[in-house]
Amino acid sequence: MKLPSRIVLLAWFLIFALASLTGQQKWVIGMSQCNLGEPWRVQMNADIRKAAAENPTLTVIFKDAQNDTLKQRAHVEEFVNARVNLLIISPKEAAPLTAPVADAFRKGIPVVVLDRRVLGNEYTCFIGADNKRIGQAAGRWIAAKLGDQGQVVELKGLMTSTPGQDRHSGFVEGIRGTGIEVIFEADMKWLEPNARKEMESALAVHKKIDLVYAHNDPGAHGAYLAAKAVGRDKEMLFVGIDALPQEGQMYVRQGIVAASFEYPTGGREAVDSAVRILGGKRVPKEVTLPSRVFTSENIDKGGEWLDIKAAGK
Ligand code: FRU
Repeated sequence: MKLPSRIVLLAWFLIFALASLTGQQKWVIGMSQCNLGEPWRVQMNADIRKAAAENPTLTVIFKDAQNDTLKQRAHVEEFVNARVNLLIISPKEAAPLTAPVADAFRKGIPVVVLDRRVLGNEYTCFIGADNKRIGQAAGRWIAAKLGDQGQVVELKGLMTSTPGQDRHSGFVEGIRGTGIEVIFEADMKWLEPNARKEMESALAVHKKIDLVYAHNDPGAHGAYLAAKAVGRDKEMLFVGIDALPQEGQMYVRQGIVAASFEYPTGGREAVDSAVRILGGKRVPKEVTLPSRVFTSENIDKGGEWLDIKAAGK
């Protein structure tokens, strides 16, 4: 364990040394990613890499915590000890990552929090789509699709992360006052294999399921696979969130998922904010990204914006 961190320190030293030799100001950004197991997070890193590559003053160092909160805490501390110029973090869970982020911020390292929140306000800015609104829109869409009546399974994202909490509470608001009944709910922690297992339990207990609302597309796909395995996939609809072109949008085209709500990665916006901060400019404390819904009816037209004004269209 000792050797790799020495090598990383040496790499940083060389970057700084090179920067001073060439006379050009170089910024080192530490990017703490909570997991790279889902396509969405791979896309987030790719978006950051692409945006950063357009700016020769930036070097981004990526760390993947492999879905381990303690590892992610250690990564943040390593970035602080190495005195990176700025930290971007997409935290696994809100509470346990709050202290290390606050510590970095207090030590003068600007912090851009991406997609999942930490608690309090000791960071420079937060960037992400409005998960509560997405949950609400999903609830309304589902109620309309089922004619305000039906039995729904809810497969939740990790409930110690803020998108899971907001996609649930928004959904509850969205179906309020309708005859939609949630007959089974489980925390699949954002992971497709967990969603598949939970759905197997739901199928074993419930003879009638009209729709599965999963907090992300891997969850919707896992539920679909479980239903398909017992020949029940045609009995029900599946709704997910993320809508990556190569994942959720593809499921919509294939008729696997009835609707997928877009959750933009914010990778490019995080780099844009980082550049502004490093250039001494002020950035808003909160950047809310717009979102679309994709269905078989609208996918060829590029989906439909949830909030025309927020999307600036
Ligand atoms: C990936 C992911 C996405 C989801 C996001 C929420 O880890 O689960 O599918 O939209 O995180 O933070």
